[in-house]
Amino acid sequence: MTARRTALQFDREAERGDYGHLVEFKDVSLAFKGLKALDDISFDVDDGELFAIIGPNGAGKTSIFNCLNGLYKPQEGSIRWKEEEILGKRPDRIAELGVARTFQNIELFAHMTVLENIMLGRHVRTKTSWWDGAIWVGPAKKEELANRVVVEDIIDFLEIARWRKYPVAMLPYGIQKRVELGRALAMEPELLLLDEPVAGMNLEETEDMARFVLDIREELGIAMILVEHDMGLVMDIADRVMVIDFGERIAVGLPTEVQNDPNVIKAYLGEEMDL
Ligand SMILES: Nc1ncnc2c1ncn2[C@@H]1O[C@H](COP(=O)(O)OP(=O)(O)OP(=O)(O)O)[C@@H](O)[C@H]1O
Ligand SMILES: [Mg+2]
Repeated sequence: MTARRTALQFDREAERGDYGHLVEFKDVSLAFKGLKALDDISFDVDDGELFAIIGPNGAGKTSIFNCLNGLYKPQEGSIRWKEEEILGKRPDRIAELGVARTFQNIELFAHMTVLENIMLGRHVRTKTSWWDGAIWVGPAKKEELANRVVVEDIIDFLEIARWRKYPVAMLPYGIQKRVELGRALAMEPELLLLDEPVAGMNLEETEDMARFVLDIREELGIAMILVEHDMGLVMDIADRVMVIDFGERIAVGLPTEVQNDPNVIKAYLGEEMDL
């Protein structure tokens, strides 16, 4: 590992506290005008774990992410982060605690460069205001330089240096997804929520993304929740898998366990998925 890589490691060991699960999602129910999007969902995720959530379209996968990061407020249940209740906290507060995400549809500033988009991810970690940074004085300047070091590390880590000055709109889809991942990493998360990171990618782009996800776990020690329809990928890389259908949890366990679960097989019957 190079010396430069160290800026990316965020001194994780030092931060690791004395708590049970990193995330504890307990008996969570969420409804929209009578439609039950999540029905009594429970699961937990530990430090450094790669936890996958799968399920048919509309099963409630993205809703789980939206509850976890504070965009949706479930009517029932509890969501704990290192044993602290976070249900009801605002998304920016939850991001500050260490939860970052990527979106099912890319949400980047298309006309800004790769570098600028990833710098935006530093925002939650930055004490001085955006305005101080813009006029480039005193402590803001120091902080800006430190931010640049981390961002350049992320750019190297994700192998996107050749595109760093390009507006995101000009880049291939697979690279844009990588930039979005870079912006999430720039927040120095302890948990990354990845909503369909390989959707719409070709085989080569998918393999690249799988490699980066594994590197994030191995080298940076960041826990991840992966929502994905690509079963091959999930079964290959996840530590544990939860299967949901119509907002209900139908299985959770090791990839090999859920693959052979009769409820899971039933839920996927009729779908063109190779479990
Ligand atoms: N803001 C909302 N308002 C109303 N209904 C919603 C809202 N968000 C989600 N839903 C509904 O909740 C259910 C679960 O949606 P969700 O987006 O979580 O599914 P998903 O598993 O991510 O599906 P997909 O695989 O298609 O991305 C769906 O019936 C959806 O229409
Ligand atoms: Mg979704």
